[in-house]
Amino acid sequence: MMFSTQTYRSRRDTLQSNVPSGLILLMGNSEAPINFKDNTYPFRQDSTFLYYFGIAAPGLAALIDIDEDRTTIFGDEMTLDDIIWMGRLETLREKAEKAGVSDTRPANALAAILLEALQEGRPVHFLPPYHPTNCIRLAHLTGIAIEQLAESASVELIKAVVAQRSIKSAEEVAEIERAVNTSVDMHLTAMRMAKPGMTEQQLAAAVQHVAQQAGGTLAYPTILSVRGEVLHNHYHGNVLKEGDWVLNDSGAETAMGYAGDLTRTFPAGKTFTALQKEAYEVVLTALESATAALKPGVRYLDIHLHACRMLTDGLKALGLMRGDAEEAVAAGAHTLFFQCGTGHMMGLDVHDMEDLGEQHVGYTDTLRKDTSTFGLKSLRLGKELQAGYVLTVEPGLYFIPELMDRWKAEKRLAQFIDYQKVDAFRNFGGVRVEDDILITANGHRVLGKPLAKTVADIEEIRAGV
Ligand code: GLY
Ligand code: MN
Ligand code: MN
Repeated sequence: MMFSTQTYRSRRDTLQSNVPSGLILLMGNSEAPINFKDNTYPFRQDSTFLYYFGIAAPGLAALIDIDEDRTTIFGDEMTLDDIIWMGRLETLREKAEKAGVSDTRPANALAAILLEALQEGRPVHFLPPYHPTNCIRLAHLTGIAIEQLAESASVELIKAVVAQRSIKSAEEVAEIERAVNTSVDMHLTAMRMAKPGMTEQQLAAAVQHVAQQAGGTLAYPTILSVRGEVLHNHYHGNVLKEGDWVLNDSGAETAMGYAGDLTRTFPAGKTFTALQKEAYEVVLTALESATAALKPGVRYLDIHLHACRMLTDGLKALGLMRGDAEEAVAAGAHTLFFQCGTGHMMGLDVHDMEDLGEQHVGYTDTLRKDTSTFGLKSLRLGKELQAGYVLTVEPGLYFIPELMDRWKAEKRLAQFIDYQKVDAFRNFGGVRVEDDILITANGHRVLGKPLAKTVADIEEIRAGV
């Protein structure tokens, strides 16, 4: 599954025109063994390689010689042995042709070409590697120690790739919307089948089934738990009980590699408890209010702070917080209940381009990422929004006993927090609601078909179970 040849050609033309000179080396991913060499994890191509070439095969690398205007893909054609074991697949030459690249060479031809360029003192631009095999390959190819590869990566190339991949084309938005629609089906499946007595694992398996049946896979490991306060909870061993609520954060990846990322929280029984309903509505109000403010030119940092203030207002109504919401958020008091960021970019990666560095993806040279303040250090996106961005909005409330105990013992920010009340929420769990949103020329559009979000809509579905 690929876009048209022209799509990849024009993406590479733009890239070439944004990097002044030298060579651009883009590494594809390799197979990764699970427990022995031939038993591998599902292969996932590097997203930047997919973006510029669309070829989802392992063991490739591409070299764009900017000065000579020549693009080469390095990789090995199948041997007879490969064909015997895996069947005849499309040749690399055929795949490269579809990406508009006519020059393919064996994988082992890359080293000599790079060495020559390096000896001539020509700039070789590469991205920070994250895949262990590519760390080793790049270290061999460039002679740079593995520990120094990240800092040796080309900032010019990172900036050029981020600028391009951040603005989604119409055909990318359509593909992302396909992923979101499958994600909606995944959520409906869980919401329609959950019952007290079931395990989280049974629901998580059903969610994955929907993603795979749609022709893709999961965009990230499913977070599905009655312990929704554990932010990235991948444990699925709990049994659902009446009175629990279930946080389901799951999303599909399409065959072309684009992600969806949705969260809904629903009661394990037919209805929310009175307190769950109140807390849910605090989160939903923050989501709707933050979403309504999305448009080009607005800083996502301000959207985040707005969501934090909305949550604080709600927590005040619940009796957990007090005082001026603006002052409370400035002091970081809300982070007892909302420890993370309100959202992130989404595209070929669920946290889009996170491998290229949050500073480059979510911030600018003038808006530096706060890497030390609790809460803000987990905000992946802060900068001004542009039309064509696709991002998530995902406020939540998370009642983490260890954190509440620590803050209470220290009486931290007690002017904003009623620690007497906090105790009643020790085992309350967590709630998040997450949507995927496109920034349009004048505002925004929530992607995908509608998915039950209000208490009434969710309880209507749960009533039918
Ligand atoms: N699914 C992970 C996240 O929402 O960021
Ligand atoms: Mn999510
Ligand atoms: Mn998300």
